[in-house]
Amino acid sequence: PTAIMSSSSSSLPPQLILTQDELKKIAAYKAVEFVESNMVLGLGTGSTAKHAIDRIGELLKQGKLTNIIGIPTSTKTHEQALSLNIPLSDIDTHPVLDLAIDGADEVDPDMNLVKGRGGSLLREKMIEGCCKKFVVIVDESKLVDYVGGSGLALPVEVVPFCWKFTANKLEELFCDAGCVAKLRINADGNKNAPYVTDNGNYIIDLYFKKDIGDLKAAGDAMLRFAGVVEHGMFIDMATTLIVASEMGVTVRHK
Ligand code: 5RP
Repeated sequence: PTAIMSSSSSSLPPQLILTQDELKKIAAYKAVEFVESNMVLGLGTGSTAKHAIDRIGELLKQGKLTNIIGIPTSTKTHEQALSLNIPLSDIDTHPVLDLAIDGADEVDPDMNLVKGRGGSLLREKMIEGCCKKFVVIVDESKLVDYVGGSGLALPVEVVPFCWKFTANKLEELFCDAGCVAKLRINADGNKNAPYVTDNGNYIIDLYFKKDIGDLKAAGDAMLRFAGVVEHGMFIDMATTLIVASEMGVTVRHK
């Protein structure tokens, strides 16, 4: 059952037609309302999280936030935060975070997520697993009935060594769901070069024809393969979901 304990929403002027990026920005700015001075913050990765980080940088510059420590979930976010003069640290130094803000590729009604189409799932999962509160920010296009069932990729980070072997094992594991496993290719540069994560690993994107049943069992089964580093299902991790749509912004707390 969905364990949503509270929710609130606010409307936007009805005449506006907003782009997806504007909706992402609205969700991101709403999330930053939860940020207070003296917090240790997980800084997400992707085009939605980028808006939140820009906003945190702006509030720090204006002196409306002070003494923030950011923990970036990717080298890209690290660079963005540095350019905004956000003080940075890591989970070796700060193993408990007050709050993290990040986007998602899919969100189901129980706030389970698919993440990692931007390639940063491992650091995201390590850091967002250390947060007292994890605020997920999306535009409404990310809402699904069942994560992994959208026909889009479920990313899995794997070690490069014999990645084909691991990809075949994943296909076999999910053969009943009609799984096809594809190595992610670098978006720019050499078209045949694999995409390499911040951790020096590869990403195998899994595509399913049917749903994969119990999400936790599916995730645990993947992690039993030695070549799998981490998968992109974030089960029962989000504590708050902020969704922006043409109708307004909705905030739901677990
Ligand atoms: C990166 C992620 C991103 O949060 C996810 O891909 C959403 O990205 P965007 O905000 O650009 O839609 O998981 O690994």
